[in-house]
Amino acid sequence: MNVRRVEIKSLATFVPPRLLTNADLEKMVDTSDEWILQRTGIRQRHIVDPGVATSDLAAEAAKKAIARAGLTPADIDLIIVGTVTPDMLFPSTACLVQHKIGATAAWGFDLSAACSAFTYALTVGSQIVAAGGAQHALVIGADVMSSIIDYTDRATCVLFGDGAGAVVLGASTDPAVGIIDFEHRIDGSGGASLCMPAGGSKMPATHATVDQRLHFVKQDGQAVFKFAVRQTGEICGRLLKRNNLTGEDLDLFVSHQANKRIIMSAAERIGMPPEKVVINIDRFGNTTAATIPLALNDAVESGQLKKGHLILLTSVGAGFTVGSVLVRWGL
Ligand code: UT7
Repeated sequence: MNVRRVEIKSLATFVPPRLLTNADLEKMVDTSDEWILQRTGIRQRHIVDPGVATSDLAAEAAKKAIARAGLTPADIDLIIVGTVTPDMLFPSTACLVQHKIGATAAWGFDLSAACSAFTYALTVGSQIVAAGGAQHALVIGADVMSSIIDYTDRATCVLFGDGAGAVVLGASTDPAVGIIDFEHRIDGSGGASLCMPAGGSKMPATHATVDQRLHFVKQDGQAVFKFAVRQTGEICGRLLKRNNLTGEDLDLFVSHQANKRIIMSAAERIGMPPEKVVINIDRFGNTTAATIPLALNDAVESGQLKKGHLILLTSVGAGFTVGSVLVRWGL
């Protein structure tokens, strides 16, 4: 089987217009702008209006990404949607997006890896395109976290926002540009530290699960924090070493945006100076599968990310899931 280099042909994002600021949250739970900003780096998040689902945000980002790649929806032959908030348990959100955008020649599926869903979907999509199994893959990270957040729980409700990002993958036209390497791990021993306990096969919905608020995100913040700091540094270190690189060789560090302190500490561990780190958690909060495309988009728009840059994407999420992808940026 011939393997070819795969590149990101386009990038687009979509966030719902409504804002939820730290000042708004101060009126909802016992918290403060100062606490949220100091502990997380977040100032505001975008939140959907009632009735708006993950597939709606994903379809908006997808349509823009396809147009920016100079393609039509009929050119897309694979759709992967990374999400932890599918519109429904089934059918897959990929099917709903396929129908909404009119991608008549596509197959596809959802990928569940929580905050690592975008790095995982990027790897899976690029491996399929590399092997010739698809010509143009649409990889989406999208989440409506506000649909599974308990807005009476101050430990979680200040952290999350809604959003979507999409990229189109295709064979590289310039062999110097594209997805170079990846490293991923899962560690199920951390399952209980970050989960939504009810609504699955283990604990189907009942009056009791609703009364006990078990259909919302539950998190042991400190356990996740410690794991994220250690594992991000380790996985990035392994990937760089295998490619005979150090942090100094990188132009940009694009991490999942869960907490500014986690990102800066991971960057320090691999020797990346603050000016080479993308931070946009202040404006979007943690949008789970959408943080990395939102960060890439901001970096492109601000001029921080340019064609030819060597960049490292990285993520840690519920599971635990850990991911890192090395990319030579071509847009
Ligand atoms: O993307 C998915 C992966 N998720 C993550 O990466 C999240 C990782 N964890 C974190 O980012 C941090 O652990 C948090 C931001 C969630 C919490 O920060 P922390 O520095 O670990 O705080 P803490 O949980 O140790 O809580 C410190 C104090 C506690 O009060 P006491 O016990 O010291 O009196 C909490 O009750 O802060 C209190 N607290 C709050 N206070 C004001 C917790 N949440 C809030 C809040 N506002 N929203």
